[in-house]
Amino acid sequence: MLMVTICEMNSHKCRGVAALHCDALRDDFLPSLGIDYLEKGYYKASIENPCGKVFVAEINGEIVGFINVSINSRKYLRSVWGKKTRLLLTAILRLFATRPIRFFEGIAISLAKVPVHRGGEIVFIAVDPAHQKQGIGKMLVEAAHRYFLAAGVHFVFTKTLESNKQVIRMYQRFGAETAGKLKILKKEYLYLSWNI
Ligand SMILES: CC(C)(COP(=O)(O)OP(=O)(O)OC[C@H]1O[C@@H](n2cnc3c(N)ncnc32)[C@H](O)[C@@H]1OP(=O)(O)O)[C@@H](O)C(=O)NCCC(=O)NCCS
Repeated sequence: MLMVTICEMNSHKCRGVAALHCDALRDDFLPSLGIDYLEKGYYKASIENPCGKVFVAEINGEIVGFINVSINSRKYLRSVWGKKTRLLLTAILRLFATRPIRFFEGIAISLAKVPVHRGGEIVFIAVDPAHQKQGIGKMLVEAAHRYFLAAGVHFVFTKTLESNKQVIRMYQRFGAETAGKLKILKKEYLYLSWNI
C-alpha cells in the first residue's frame, strides 16, 4: 500500500510544486508566467504568509499533489503578487510580447467581479495524473479543512471551469453546491461552496 504523507510546503518544495502546477494545470493563467516565477515568486511568497498556505502530498519524498488555500483571498493574493515584483514584471512583459491574448485573459480574470469571496478559498489543487483516483485529492481537501477550522473558518469556496467534472465531483463529495457562475472571455467558471 502506498504511504501518502501530507505536509506544509517549505522552500525546498517550491520547485516541485511549481513543476506540478505547470504540468497539471496547463490551461491556468499562472503557468503562462513561467515556472521560475511560480517557484521563486508565487510559491516562495506563499511560505509564512499569514493568510494562506500550500500543503503537499508526498510518496517516498516525491511530490504527487498540492493544495493552495487561503483564509483571506484578497489579502493573500495582494501580498503574494506584491513580493518579487521585478520577477513578476519580467514575466508579465515576456507574456505580453509572446502571448498577448493570454496576457489580456489574465487582465480580464483579475478584473472579474467574483460572486463569492468570504470564507476560506481553495485557490488551486492538483494531483499528478499518475497518482490520481487514489484518494490523494480528498486527503488534500481534508488538510485544507483542518487548516480552515483551526483558523475559525467554517465556510469554503472555490472556482473551477464548469467543464472540469472531476474536480466538481470531488467537491460535491464534501457537500459543495453551486454558489455562482462567471463567464470570462467565453470560458464558463463555476463557484462552489460548502460548510465544514
Ligand atoms: C481533481 C483532482 C485534484 C482529484 O484528485 P484525485 O486524487 O484523483 O481525487 P480522489 O482520488 O481523492 O477522488 C476524489 C473524488 O473525485 C472524483 N473523481 C476523481 N477522479 C475522477 C474522474 N476521473 N471522474 C469523475 N470523478 C472523479 C470522485 O468523486 C472521487 O471520489 P470517489 O472516489 O469517492 O468517487 C485531480 O483530478 C486533478 O489534479 N485534476 C487536474 C487539476 C485540476 O483540474 N484542478 C482543479 C482546478 S484548480
